[in-house]
Amino acid sequence: MSVTRIDDIQMAYTDQGLGRPVVLIHGYPFNRSLWNEQVAVLSSSYRVVTPDLRGFGETDPSPGPATMNRMADDVARLMDHLGISQAVIGGLSMGGYVALAFCKQFPSRVRALVLADTRAQADTEEAKQTRAQQAEKALSEGMAGIADAMLPKLLTPETVSKRPEVVKRVRDMMLKTRPEGAASALLGMAEREDQTPLLSQIASPTLILAGSDDAITPVADSEKMHNAIAGSRLVVIENAGHVSNLERTDEFNQNLIDFLRNAGA
Ligand code: MLT
Repeated sequence: MSVTRIDDIQMAYTDQGLGRPVVLIHGYPFNRSLWNEQVAVLSSSYRVVTPDLRGFGETDPSPGPATMNRMADDVARLMDHLGISQAVIGGLSMGGYVALAFCKQFPSRVRALVLADTRAQADTEEAKQTRAQQAEKALSEGMAGIADAMLPKLLTPETVSKRPEVVKRVRDMMLKTRPEGAASALLGMAEREDQTPLLSQIASPTLILAGSDDAITPVADSEKMHNAIAGSRLVVIENAGHVSNLERTDEFNQNLIDFLRNAGA
């Protein structure tokens, strides 16, 4: 793990392997260890950078909403620090929101794009209110209640009942998240803009991965992105929920590797 100063925070990240850079951005309320299995296979051919986003893992939180634009800017600043001008940018769920914000702000720095279990639309008014309530709950009660409520939405019922090691992994990541970091990200996600108009302007090769049973960002959200991003590839990973890279690691990795090869990345 390495750390660098980005504006007001110390940002933690890993930078592993040699080759063309691939930046993988974790979702909420996780940390860079979400990508351990992807780093393990990709780093023999690529330089894989996995940041802990603002307020997550070992990166400092900051007061107020951690907006997707701010997090995208943090990623760009981290790339500057590492001497990376252009990279494959991949994100899962909130990481996908950050990846889309990155595409909008820094299109020339995106060599190829990977959007996993995510969506382009903004929150509905109802979802914004729920985010605000969840932020208060995280601050007043800590992460245990949030983790319990989220788990059944993150994983398929089969994974919940038969794969205790995956359940533990996901739960532990959530419990390690600092409530201030989670609250800031919730408020930041609630503020995020609708990126639907951006989709038709994306010129980078794009892979969209979706768990067939994703209860948080349903396959229909991925289909919308696929229809709007010219030349994009959509892969639905069967028997996977929202955290498809952990539930169906082999399929996820194989699709990622094939895409990177075909995209010449
Ligand atoms: C995530 O996995 O990053 C979040 O569930 C996304 C969201 O809450 O919209």
